[in-house]
Amino acid sequence: MSNLDELLRIEGIRKTFPGVVALDSVDFDLRRGEVHVLLGENGAGKSTLIKMLSGAYHPDAGRVLVDGEEVRIQGAQDSERLGIATIYQEFNLVPDLTVAENIFLGRQPRRFGMIDRKTMEAEAAELLKRVGVNVSPRARVRELGIARLQMVEIAKALSLNARVLIMDEPTAVLTSEEVEKLFTIVRQLREAGVGIVFITHHLEEIAALGDRVTVIRDGKSVGQVPASTPEDELVRLMVGRSIEQQYPRERADTGAALLTVEGLTKDGVFHNVSFEVRAGEVVGIAGLVGAGRTEVVRAVFGADPYDKGAVKVAGSALRRHDVNAAMQAGIGLVPEDRKGQGLVLDATVEENLGLVTMRAATRGGLVDLKGQREAAARIAEQLGVRMAGLGQHVRTLSGGNQQKVVIGKWLLADTKVLILDEPTRGIDVGAKVEIYQLINELTAAGAAVLMISSDLPEVLGMSDRVLVMAQGRIAGELSADEATQDSVMALAVSTNTEREATRGH
Ligand SMILES: Nc1ncnc2c1ncn2[C@@H]1O[C@H](COP(=O)(O)OP(=O)(O)OP(=O)(O)O)[C@@H](O)[C@H]1O
Ligand SMILES: [Mg+2]
Repeated sequence: MSNLDELLRIEGIRKTFPGVVALDSVDFDLRRGEVHVLLGENGAGKSTLIKMLSGAYHPDAGRVLVDGEEVRIQGAQDSERLGIATIYQEFNLVPDLTVAENIFLGRQPRRFGMIDRKTMEAEAAELLKRVGVNVSPRARVRELGIARLQMVEIAKALSLNARVLIMDEPTAVLTSEEVEKLFTIVRQLREAGVGIVFITHHLEEIAALGDRVTVIRDGKSVGQVPASTPEDELVRLMVGRSIEQQYPRERADTGAALLTVEGLTKDGVFHNVSFEVRAGEVVGIAGLVGAGRTEVVRAVFGADPYDKGAVKVAGSALRRHDVNAAMQAGIGLVPEDRKGQGLVLDATVEENLGLVTMRAATRGGLVDLKGQREAAARIAEQLGVRMAGLGQHVRTLSGGNQQKVVIGKWLLADTKVLILDEPTRGIDVGAKVEIYQLINELTAAGAAVLMISSDLPEVLGMSDRVLVMAQGRIAGELSADEATQDSVMALAVSTNTEREATRGH
């Protein structure tokens, strides 16, 4: 391949923040018509690196070359002018604007000096169709679920017609179907000569989509390998050791039902949902996006109201739509949207870890601050949270490390029934295993775990029982032995098609 094919080169990039060397020395290059994967553990420096290219951060040392010439990227305008578009890991959309307004933010088509809404909405509709997402250009971004937000981000990046497209964990929040659509788009762009930087923690995506891989460890580029490199080799390069067992579920003895959900119904959202989770059990909930899984667990946790049914913890009924009552009874929820619901971004790691315990302690009248700090330090260590210290603001943690803090906060609070909604989203392969081990410890100690996951291998690997939801109902229940990729998917789609058929009459 000739030099003419080189779009971008990064040499010896260094970036420090107070107390942290985020990037020590990174080399990277991108060619026309390739997908170059950036691989590394949570906190390795991937997002920081690509922020140098979007102008969000400026390097302390090192060079960036575009088309062989050194450039200074001072801000978003510079990067746009150079043909670089970025899809950030944390969403960059304005909640109160519409989808179309977000896509064309700052460059709305105008007519006679006025924003030409009609043209803007028509063009947005075209882009949305291209990414295959069913959302109205007029919908407010605030109303969209996380997967759709991601698809809107992608539509927005496409509209820039960039030569370099950077995607920071675009698949983390997508289902397999959406991932396939995204891959089709990425392959088309590659055909058209676009260079794509792709960040993912899903190793199987690398061989499926990538051409080359650059591995970053502790802020340094430690190797460049072809995307066809076997997964265990990639893991070794990334975490410096091999992982023996990806899903180390150790079954615990099961006891009495800790969480009982009876006939839970919310008109038009979910219907007659009943199940229980026993002490010591991990129950997985599988299903397609939109099946109502998140809605059900939010209702169980008291975050949303429901119309009919009951939620009981250890036999006693909970008041509906009352998060405090749920928490007092020992329910914890790790939400799918950590930024929106799980964290106080401008508070420190220690404060976030203490959020739940603090409430309980304050109610009791006594706050053991020293004890709290020690407990926070212990859990952060156990989860391997990569940070400058407990005083670091959560906003500046890497995506995966933020997720670990959300989980840690409930682990600290002696939660009896822990509900996890997509718990390992954005978590690297090594840290996933740590989280699974903590789930084992929780259940061994008699807690009940309810886990929603769109990562089917994870559901199958960690659940003792699997509930499958389809269109707001429990379509079936499978034991760990019965649950396979095929049996789960059959249930997840079967009711849908059946209902489609009845609707036709
Ligand atoms: N603005 C900031 N202030 C302080 N530290 C920061 C800031 N931005 C990033 N860091 C630190 O730099 C390191 C690298 O973070 P980065 O977000 O690049 O990791 P990452 O590889 O993208 O991880 P993940 O897979 O979890 O997204 C982390 O230790 C993070 O806490
Ligand atoms: Mg990141």
